[in-house]
Amino acid sequence: MFTTLLLLALAIPTLISADTPVPPGHCSSNNNHLDPASKKLVSDCTDQTFCSGADPSNATCVPRQCRRDEFPFGFSAGEAIPPLCARGTFCPDEGSGCRALVPAGSPCELNRDEQCIAPPDWAHLASTQNFNGSICLQSVCMYANVTLGDRCITDNTTYIDVGPSGQQVTNTVTRDNCQSPQFYCNPTDLICERTLPIRSPCEADPQCTSLNCATGTCANPPATPVRIPPWQCALTTTAIVGAMLVTCMLLILLDKRYRLQRSRELRDYYYQQIGLRRSIIALHAAAAEIYMDEKVVL
Ligand SMILES: *[C@@H]1O[C@H](CO)[C@@H](O)[C@H](O)[C@H]1NC(C)=O
Ligand SMILES: *[C@@H]1O[C@H](CO)[C@@H](O)[C@H](O)[C@H]1NC(C)=O
Ligand SMILES: *[C@@H]1O[C@H](CO)[C@@H](O)[C@H](O)[C@H]1NC(C)=O
Ligand SMILES: *[C@@H]1O[C@H](CO)[C@@H](O)[C@H](O)[C@H]1NC(C)=O
Repeated sequence: MFTTLLLLALAIPTLISADTPVPPGHCSSNNNHLDPASKKLVSDCTDQTFCSGADPSNATCVPRQCRRDEFPFGFSAGEAIPPLCARGTFCPDEGSGCRALVPAGSPCELNRDEQCIAPPDWAHLASTQNFNGSICLQSVCMYANVTLGDRCITDNTTYIDVGPSGQQVTNTVTRDNCQSPQFYCNPTDLICERTLPIRSPCEADPQCTSLNCATGTCANPPATPVRIPPWQCALTTTAIVGAMLVTCMLLILLDKRYRLQRSRELRDYYYQQIGLRRSIIALHAAAAEIYMDEKVVL
């Protein structure tokens, strides 16, 4: 399947170019299409220009008149960039100038939910899965307002990329017009169903309220910050302080023991010295006595 897609990716621009000969220095806006792998808009013009002209097959590349991103693709630092669009307008992918938002049912570009007018109850419908309650599915603007048990529309977009070791990596994004995050569109019968809470068994990401189905169970999204419960903080603090106190007390005890041993040694030495002195005095006294006796005898 990947090889077919790859061949298609290589073949599409060639096929279209072959069908419509474009005069040199000119472009044809009929050649505008999305790259099958990356879904990026590809045209005869560069990233800084778009194909403009009354006759689509004999138009010219002119500088873009607006940008959709703060930092647009294809412009280097310091280069003059086209302006962003004001509120209530949007910049189409080709950058041909700001246009007014379009109502539900009108065409929109892939992944450009913000091209659609917000529904009247936008505050109630808005979620991370849509833009202000509007969603662009199958290139049509609609509201993400379908509730439990009603028919819904899904849209799969498959992106293809090359992995670190050169293998093809595909990523399919499934979107639907059910109210989110409480409902999702079941792909088998296209009916909105309730999303599943954390730790429920699941088969695909959209089934989970957290949008993350990991090894068959709904899990927190990978970027969720780890929250440490207060009791764990308290336990850890107590353990650290306790360990420090125990260490201090052990050191004090060891020091006391050492000092006691030293003082015992000193006392023993002192007693020994006193004993020695007494012996010398006794010896001296005995010697003196013998000498006196001899003198008396003489
Ligand atoms: C293309 O348009 C230019 C003027 O923009 C014109 O001079 C030229 O004849 C046109 N060529 C074709 C093939 O229509
Ligand atoms: C959503 O739409 C309403 C009505 O058009 C608008 O007042 C509000 O500012 C929008 N919110 C955002 C985040 O764009
Ligand atoms: C939901 O939105 C569509 C437009 O996308 C509208 O026609 C329909 O009446 C809305 N349904 C409800 C229940 O608001
Ligand atoms: C979209 O993809 C899901 C699984 O990823 C599949 O079940 C569903 O049938 C697909 N829908 C369409 C319209 O291709």
